[in-house]
Amino acid sequence: MARGDLLKKLFSSFKHNDKENFYKIANEIIEDERKKNHGILADELRMILFNGNSTYKNTLNTMKPVVPKDVDKDVSLVEVVYPDKYFVDLVLPQERKVFLESIIREFRNWDILVSNGVFPVRKILFYGPPGCGKTIAAHVIACELGIPLLYVRFDAVVSSFLGETASNIRKVFDFAKKDNWVIFFDEFDAIGRSRDDFSEHGEIKRVVNTFLQQLDNFKGRSLIIAATNYEKSLDYALWRRFDEILKFDLPTPEEKLKLCELSIKRFKGPVQVFEQYLGEMENFSHSDIDKMCQIIMKQCILEGRKMFTKHDVEYAVRKQASIVKMRKTSY
Ligand SMILES: Nc1ncnc2c1ncn2[C@@H]1O[C@H](COP(=O)(O)OP(=O)(O)OP(=O)(O)O)[C@@H](O)[C@H]1O
Ligand SMILES: [Mg+2]
Repeated sequence: MARGDLLKKLFSSFKHNDKENFYKIANEIIEDERKKNHGILADELRMILFNGNSTYKNTLNTMKPVVPKDVDKDVSLVEVVYPDKYFVDLVLPQERKVFLESIIREFRNWDILVSNGVFPVRKILFYGPPGCGKTIAAHVIACELGIPLLYVRFDAVVSSFLGETASNIRKVFDFAKKDNWVIFFDEFDAIGRSRDDFSEHGEIKRVVNTFLQQLDNFKGRSLIIAATNYEKSLDYALWRRFDEILKFDLPTPEEKLKLCELSIKRFKGPVQVFEQYLGEMENFSHSDIDKMCQIIMKQCILEGRKMFTKHDVEYAVRKQASIVKMRKTSY
């Protein structure tokens, strides 16, 4: 059990509505239990803290820790997110699902692996075209692990001031050390652009070096995930740093149909008709399918219907297909 002094501090912070301290002490208790080798209890406490019933979650959502900021722009460098997406919300090829499940399993068994001299997978790179599930997969991992997602905002981290980007990266890692997260570096290419790219000046080299240093020295009990659409522009030294690399692709026809079913599930209607439009959905990403289904649902809601029709599907497919076409030609 947690030490009496910690429990007293916890109660007192709750009574004084000191949310920040409550959150901090609750985490201390969890870590205390973990040190005593009560890994399962620690995981369960963490689940309750971030992933339990909605009342708890809603209360604790307001207890967000103070996050680091970019001094010049005065914007937060990271965002603490409590995702609510699970494996059932994901449509992925079986082998990729198995892969993600194995990462979760290793993370959950951190103590037993480390005490036997091996480390769980801690650094993963996701790459692939836009809208194919990199971000949502990171959300699912955090949610299934019952830990928050630390979303690293690249627009904030990258500064026009010399030396400031590297300093921001250090701040992000210093903050991340304090707790357990799924640390998600989105649009990673912004930081990882090749050091050999001769069009770049010295700053990008310094930035990549700082990132590599921080990554190598990071000892936190967190899972680091970086995501990019531009894997080719990534520095080779960065590729090497990841324990695992996972590619995300456009959905197969079967996956498209599964996604349609999943996205439209709140409405009744002839789901089999989606199959007739697979040809027009050829270049659709997962996200395009989701958006297409939102068009259908909006039509139904605005017309007060609980059922969609073949006509709704046809309209939505064509509308989304024209967006996809425009996107393709504008690249
Ligand atoms: N594999 C998937 N299964 C179910 N839904 C998905 C999947 N991939 C994407 N989606 C849907 O598309 C939306 C956008 O996907 P997501 O943000 O994960 O794409 P991304 O690969 O991160 O794209 P980007 O490279 O633009 O950041 C999700 O919120 C979800 O609704
Ligand atoms: Mg994304």
